[in-house]
Amino acid sequence: LDNGLGLTPPMGWLTWERFRCNMDCDRDPDNCISEHLIKAMADIMAANGYRDAGYEYVIIDDCWLGPERDTNGRLVPDPNRFPSGIKNLSAYVHSKNLKFGIYQDFGTKTCGGFPGSEFYMQTDAETFADWGVDYLKFDGCNSNLYDFPSGYEAMGFFLNKTGRSIFYSCEWPFYKIVSGLQVDFAKVRKTCNLWRNYYDVQDSWSSVLDIVNFWGSNSKIFTKYAGPGGWNDPDMIILGNFGLSYEEERVQMAMWAILAAPLIMSNDLRHIRSSSKALLLNRNLIAINQDKLGIQGILLQKQNGIQIWSRDLSFNRTAVAFLNENSDGMPRFLSFSLVDLKLTSSTYNFTEAFDMKTNILVTRQRPLKIKVNPHGINLYIAKEMHL
Ligand code: DGJ
Repeated sequence: LDNGLGLTPPMGWLTWERFRCNMDCDRDPDNCISEHLIKAMADIMAANGYRDAGYEYVIIDDCWLGPERDTNGRLVPDPNRFPSGIKNLSAYVHSKNLKFGIYQDFGTKTCGGFPGSEFYMQTDAETFADWGVDYLKFDGCNSNLYDFPSGYEAMGFFLNKTGRSIFYSCEWPFYKIVSGLQVDFAKVRKTCNLWRNYYDVQDSWSSVLDIVNFWGSNSKIFTKYAGPGGWNDPDMIILGNFGLSYEEERVQMAMWAILAAPLIMSNDLRHIRSSSKALLLNRNLIAINQDKLGIQGILLQKQNGIQIWSRDLSFNRTAVAFLNENSDGMPRFLSFSLVDLKLTSSTYNFTEAFDMKTNILVTRQRPLKIKVNPHGINLYIAKEMHL
């Protein structure tokens, strides 16, 4: 979407994967979807280095609404969980130099059963602008899939008409693809800054790998539509939660960098392992993710559970990732020629990309020899050398 936003993939934090539709503030006051939770995360993002690393949006997903609109048809947040109102909450987030995002649904109800935007799009767009919303995640539950192209376009039109810059994240391709329907990705890109293509990420390795595999086998359909202004969305970053090992967390960060994917975390930043935090704040990975050219990486080959991915970067560099999906427990020794890696010059310097400390010289005669941990990933930046 050509609205000046999303020139690189968005970065931020979102409630959904970690906090879901938890509305039980009596029993779980610190973790229910509430202004208290959003403020706590905004505080930490500002104080603990996340904002400075580029994570800028703080976004509430589903379950922030009360059961009914007001008499003017305007949306009303749940009064017990958002007693100060959304406008004050967004002002608080802005006071931390962060941006504020919210969720709504294209249909009659959100997936969680709260009032949806159908028949109220203009009112809701105006309400969001009035509240100081900077990012809208627009879901597609309880609606007619055939209405998506015109409906998502209409909401985009009304957002634009408010005059406020609002990043527009859409779920439209996801619901169509999983129902076996075709998606007009050119139109999606024209309409949205970000679009989900596949099922929700869950807190597990199998979910992350399933998403990566879907991207690997369907990239021809949507890869080319990614670029400054619009991105494919493989869903949230789940580092720091319960389900991933350290190696698996490295895989998600590195693969989301290869995929030019949004770095929208859903985790509990108040309680996070230092190893997860270090990965989330790894400037080298973030720089690959945010590379200005915005070219989404592709799967080059997959053999015996080893996937090779490649992403073209600025300054004639290429990010190359070796993902070992095997669960046999033993690191694999692997050797690849430049031809295997589709690198056409005669000599390259491979810099290990997590730490940017180790360099390996690879030539036509001298293949790249590496060791990749199970459920692990090695990531390099290859740069042609003129000797
Ligand atoms: C489905 C979406 O895919 C999720 O990311 C989340 O927004 C839920 N709906 C909320 O109900």
